[in-house]
Amino acid sequence: MRLSRIAGTGHFVPARVVTNHDLAAVMDTSDEWILERTGIRERRFTEDGVTGTDLAVEASRQALSEAGWEAGDVQFIIFATLSPDMYFPGNGVLLQRELGLPGVGAMDVRNQCTGFVYSLSAADAYIRMGMYDRILVVGAERHSAGLRMDDRGRDTAVLFGDGAGAVCVDVTTDPEGSRLISHHLHADGRFAEELCIKSPGAGRKPWLSADMVDDGSSHPFMNGREVFRNAVTRFPEVIMEALDGQGLTPDQVDVVIPHQANQRITDAVTKRLGLPREKVLSNIERFGNTTAASIPIVLSEAVKADTVQRGDLVCLAAFGSGFTWAATLMRY
Ligand code: UT7
Repeated sequence: MRLSRIAGTGHFVPARVVTNHDLAAVMDTSDEWILERTGIRERRFTEDGVTGTDLAVEASRQALSEAGWEAGDVQFIIFATLSPDMYFPGNGVLLQRELGLPGVGAMDVRNQCTGFVYSLSAADAYIRMGMYDRILVVGAERHSAGLRMDDRGRDTAVLFGDGAGAVCVDVTTDPEGSRLISHHLHADGRFAEELCIKSPGAGRKPWLSADMVDDGSSHPFMNGREVFRNAVTRFPEVIMEALDGQGLTPDQVDVVIPHQANQRITDAVTKRLGLPREKVLSNIERFGNTTAASIPIVLSEAVKADTVQRGDLVCLAAFGSGFTWAATLMRY
């Protein structure tokens, strides 16, 4: 039986640290407000000229090295991002170019905070069906280019950070060993406008105009309370769906890696599932919300720190814009 597993992980964040105090110098906010409401102390922003693809290249090289792959071993690339370098083409082809892999297929997944989990499920399916044996899956974001760094942007600008995470996924035939077990993907488009960047977009003509800069629609809009309210329900729901599918209970999971949306959301999910805090991993204090990159960054850090070890039962879970929510259960 063909299955797939994560063979290697990598992550990369830019060196430039932006603290809450740095943000308070340019907008009406404070370290206390941000820390208390989100758990974030600092995030990383790229320097001018550094793109999301550049971050992805570094994360990918680390993942390739951990997996013991050469770049030429990659048969397909899946790139999750909501902050692509260009409107089109997507970042997948740019990463493919940087890795020197002409001819290798590359696909972008535009699923925001759940982009990495959706991408991993696609990689797993391609491998199970025999289409590929080795796929590179990346989540990378350069939020800092699109945030509104003044008082009008303070409700979203304080949340997001830049970074990239990557995993190498390869084929395995061991039904008891390291493997991706199941994926659970959901969406509810009735909430599409509750967390979005509307412009530029072909839903309006022209799709880009000076008005869109003035009306703020080219920056993120978020109904924070609605997102919060849905997230604290959907996260536990989808994690339980994954566990129920295998006849497992929360105490049998070794590690939960939630998308890093807000520490208060993570704490609420931890409590609802009755999990000890140390089993639910978090790095939001240092990196903020890096959207599609957040889960693979946490995973890669945890692998390097031995917090996640081979054989551990790990549940990845995400919620975000769309609304979309998703989980992957795996034996790492
Ligand atoms: O990956 C998914 C992405 N998003 C999320 O997960 C976000 C989910 N939502 C949240 O995390 C929270 O809703 C926030 C952290 C975004 C906001 O926390 P909140 O407790 O829901 O605050 P609020 O939006 O109700 O705002 C409370 C007050 C308001 O002032 P008034 O009306 O009470 O005078 C806001 O204007 O806080 C004000 N406010 C700020 N104050 C200082 C909003 N943003 C800021 C800010 N600094 N950055």
